[in-house]
Amino acid sequence: MTEPVLSIRKLTKRFGGLVAVNDVSWDVYPGEVVALLGDNGAGKSTLIKCVSGVYQPDEGEICFEGRLSHFARPMDARRQGIETIYQDLALANNLDVSANIFLGREVKKRYFAGLIRTLDEQMMLRESRAALESLAIQFPSLTQPIESLSGGQRQAVAIARAVYWDARLMIMDEPTNNLGVPEQHKVLELIRKLRDQGVPVILITHTLPDVFAVSDRLMVMRRGRKVTEKRTAETHTQELVQYMVGALDDTHVQ
Ligand SMILES: Nc1ncnc2c1ncn2[C@@H]1O[C@H](COP(=O)(O)OP(=O)(O)O)[C@@H](O)[C@H]1O
Ligand SMILES: [Mg+2]
Repeated sequence: MTEPVLSIRKLTKRFGGLVAVNDVSWDVYPGEVVALLGDNGAGKSTLIKCVSGVYQPDEGEICFEGRLSHFARPMDARRQGIETIYQDLALANNLDVSANIFLGREVKKRYFAGLIRTLDEQMMLRESRAALESLAIQFPSLTQPIESLSGGQRQAVAIARAVYWDARLMIMDEPTNNLGVPEQHKVLELIRKLRDQGVPVILITHTLPDVFAVSDRLMVMRRGRKVTEKRTAETHTQELVQYMVGALDDTHVQ
């Protein structure tokens, strides 16, 4: 039996009186793309923020690569290899492509016994170019500020960052939102490439065609609870919509 990369056990997260995530258990295995589905407010972002160290769960536990994990901050999760691309995409708009790939982990050269430290920009530029090329991503210039790039190019930078830092799990929250159709296709292609490189991907979306285009398995949340889990090949759009709106719910079956 293959061990799960990520194992979420009976996780609950509350905000005041509101139960955003309610007793959710979920496993993600190596080499798979899993979709996390649900209507707005279902608890998808809150669940993954518990995995990536943004929030701490109130109850339950998270095992990553077989070890019980307590991530106090996002950087703790990232150091273990959990890379997350959030809905609002945490790239620094005023910085260029390579600075973003190294964001928070800049390479510094030491001079005068560490009295003056400068960023090793040449090295970062070289490494960034190699990371982008490994994903067949072409950029006109790596010294362009991020704000001058398209949405799809920004996603690509975030994905290149994950690959460069050797992500063990990639979490993407609504990555194709606000993208044009050609760019959506490009992002889906990058997700497949990540999987081919052995990186499992959790794809949060309510775009059902994306689910059928790239995912192997899926989980649907509604009002904080997991209502079903399926192989993508064993379901269809209409059935998923029924789970999302509450017409179907496996937890009600006796
Ligand atoms: N930081 C927060 N404080 C209070 N309530 C929150 C917070 N984040 C999310 N919620 C609430 O938790 C529920 C789940 O939200 P969320 O996880 O963002 O859902 P989804 O990503 O599926 O749209 C919603 O009712 C939302 O309003
Ligand atoms: Mg969300």
